[in-house]
Amino acid sequence: MEMKDKTVVLGVTGSIAAYKAAELASQLTQAGAKVEVIMTEAATEFIAPLTFRNITGRPVVTKMFELAAEYSVEHVALAEAADVVVIAPATANIIAKIAAGIADDMLCCTVLATKAPIIMAPAMDVRMYENQATQDNLAKLKARGFTIVGPGYGRLASGKRGLGRLVDVNEILGTIRQVLGRSGDLAGKRIVVTAGGTQEPVDPVRCLTNRSSGKMGYALAEAARDRGAQVALISAPSALPKPIGMDVVNVGTTQEMHQAVKKAVNKADALIMAAAVADYRPKKVSKSKIKRQRASSLTLELERTPDILVEVKGKFLRVGFAAESEDLVANAKEKLQKKQLDLIIANDITSKGSGIGADTNQVVIIDRAGKIEELPLLLKKEVADRILDKVVGIMAKRSGR
Ligand code: CTP
Repeated sequence: MEMKDKTVVLGVTGSIAAYKAAELASQLTQAGAKVEVIMTEAATEFIAPLTFRNITGRPVVTKMFELAAEYSVEHVALAEAADVVVIAPATANIIAKIAAGIADDMLCCTVLATKAPIIMAPAMDVRMYENQATQDNLAKLKARGFTIVGPGYGRLASGKRGLGRLVDVNEILGTIRQVLGRSGDLAGKRIVVTAGGTQEPVDPVRCLTNRSSGKMGYALAEAARDRGAQVALISAPSALPKPIGMDVVNVGTTQEMHQAVKKAVNKADALIMAAAVADYRPKKVSKSKIKRQRASSLTLELERTPDILVEVKGKFLRVGFAAESEDLVANAKEKLQKKQLDLIIANDITSKGSGIGADTNQVVIIDRAGKIEELPLLLKKEVADRILDKVVGIMAKRSGR
């Protein structure tokens, strides 16, 4: 329920993609936001206001002069209540009207009157999108601080393929979270997060890797974004969808991760190494596929990979993970010392519902002073926020607040 205290004004306009706004309204409502839907008259031709009313549990505004009782006094009440205004889908028409400052319907009035950040997700025919008028209007809105998300490429209502599709609802949601997080406790901070399990090639088809899913690292990156941080996610292969609103660098080997981290920590405030990094790699990578041999066994010689946390130097705050199957706290403390960390998150990978691949995690957080905090079994997203609480605390202490 991370959007619990937030009011999202969702403007829906007359596009064939209007039905997708229902899914967006539903996801926002489920995340705890108060969703106030304003529909243009054209939008009501594509989808019924009742759909949004039932999804959001709130009255839906469709006409300028027939407002729900709650908003009848002041026609800009929604503009004031909004933490963010999202127009999805946004037609060429609404984009033009807003760029020109026209106020002849409730959505335009709200946009004109609000001080909240505004996100627009255009959806239209490719020729309308590429038309210079639309491009000029979008450029104008961007210059005024609007966030434009999309459009995406794909099949359009005309049957043609091109730019003009409403972007995926998850992309709009990610953008909303990012925009809402701008005033969060990590605003202005740069955080580098690593995730996933690195892969060390044996030959062109095989590799050595581990079972890391990337879930903990992705949860940390998203939680940091939602709290206002500028995030760089350096991800070893993971099946998770690419997170929105951050720089994502995809890497394969430990060596590649090392290089990417080195580059990303330049100017970073914190490095969080949630990746499961291979400690060894094949000494020789075969150029051709290793064939089955007569002998019943095959020996691979391995060599140590660089320890990224140890080798990447800088003033940034350093957070490591310790995946352990025994002596959890003692081993984690040793790693904290050896790797000169500010925090270590100790993870008993043998405990039920915890660690690799799971959606939940049970961890112990240990700081440099040796203070130990044992967390209960929580969703990885919740664990991420608890870790970031500590990161914020250490940052505040360092800056003398
Ligand atoms: N790590 C790293 N570079 C490596 C190996 C690990 O930066 N080559 C980081 C991990 O991302 C993690 C921390 O170091 O944040 C501890 O990783 P872990 O695998 O638990 O420990 P190791 O140092 O590899 O020690 P061991 O395998 O003996 O437990």
